[in-house]
Amino acid sequence: MRFQVKPGGSITGRLRAPGDKSMSHRTIMLGSIAEGITEATGFLEGQDALCTVNAFRAMGVTIDGPRDGQVRIQGVGLHGLKEPNETLDMGNSGTSIRLISGLLAAQSFDATMTGDASLTKRPMGRVITPLQQMGAVIDSHDERPPLTVRGGQSLKGIHYVMPMASAQVKSCVLLAGLYAEGRTSVIEPAPTRDHTERMLQGFGYAVDSENGVISLRGGGNLQGAQLDIPADISSAAFFLVAASISEGSDLILEHVGINPTRSGVITILTLMGADIEIMNERTVGGEPVADLSVRSAKLKGIEIPEELVPLAIDEFPVLFIAAACADGETVLSGAEELRVKESDRIASMAEGLTRLGIANEVMPDGIRIQGGRMTGGEIDTYHDHRIAMSFSIAALRANGDIIVNDCDHVATSFPNFASLSKGIGLRITEAL
Ligand code: S3P
Repeated sequence: MRFQVKPGGSITGRLRAPGDKSMSHRTIMLGSIAEGITEATGFLEGQDALCTVNAFRAMGVTIDGPRDGQVRIQGVGLHGLKEPNETLDMGNSGTSIRLISGLLAAQSFDATMTGDASLTKRPMGRVITPLQQMGAVIDSHDERPPLTVRGGQSLKGIHYVMPMASAQVKSCVLLAGLYAEGRTSVIEPAPTRDHTERMLQGFGYAVDSENGVISLRGGGNLQGAQLDIPADISSAAFFLVAASISEGSDLILEHVGINPTRSGVITILTLMGADIEIMNERTVGGEPVADLSVRSAKLKGIEIPEELVPLAIDEFPVLFIAAACADGETVLSGAEELRVKESDRIASMAEGLTRLGIANEVMPDGIRIQGGRMTGGEIDTYHDHRIAMSFSIAALRANGDIIVNDCDHVATSFPNFASLSKGIGLRITEAL
């Protein structure tokens, strides 16, 4: 499937983006190992979250839904998971394979996880190393999936200094720490999304977090919870940029999660001159939520402060489109992690921008982008959902059609992207 997007248009109206992907995964994981029932609304019915649902079903957990964003999980307790009969297919989802590795490390049974062409190329050494230090036994293909996690090991708490700012690694180690003897602590080089910590506390499990050290003691238990998952700021980000770059736009994004470890995209766009207003701030289930109003604005190129990189890590593809539409140069550095996402996002974005006539210079840890006039063109997405959605948005400011090839992966995080964006003014059609 590919998107064909006609140039121009403005973005108006209001919409609620789909549920937060990170929180949807964690809802299934924690709900499964909790005691009693967990119910959630706002759940993301995207393929990535469904991979997590299927993995826990294969390990004996009864999960109803998701339907209309509602899901109900009958928790089996920390020690109630069963040996799966088959290899667990994590599809495109790095969050599933890395976080579930931490849980599997402490089970009594062996389990194997694999994934698609993108996932099987992604680095897993970053979770294998700390888990091995805790006593886990994991077979891999040169630190890439498939991973076989051996059961029957007893884990010990560790004090782990993370070499990179990664919420997936932090969460993996903390989940293994639930089963480990003593205290497990993780030190992060920079703050990363803290949904695992917040949600564990929502399930009644004590987590300490102070000065970048996050720790918990093994051997407790989790109680089922009621959750209301906000819209994913990473999906809302496409429309923050869309409305900013197109003339005559005025959009409201409803019920967006604005957790400070996720809202770097708002800070960066505001530094570039975007007109974004945060309205009706409230706390829902331990997470800050707001409605965002965004209007067209004249953007200017900036040097993106490095401390904002982990707080906007998934939003750089669409921020590069904002940079292409800005006056002057935008410089990103300290973002080498972008090279190990669903695709090498520095390389895939640079290639697409060049194809649309936007001058850019790739660096090992970032990119320089010169704002300019965008032509139409044909884009390869490298099986990466966020590359596909970013270049669809770019059409608002291009002077010809943009054809985005290979868009099936958009369904991993945003199944109704085309219809929702069409409803607010993007001239997008789906074609085979
Ligand atoms: C995620 C963490 C981030 C992010 C990913 C989701 C999570 O990955 O890019 O989309 O849910 O914990 P890293 O931990 O690799 O930075």
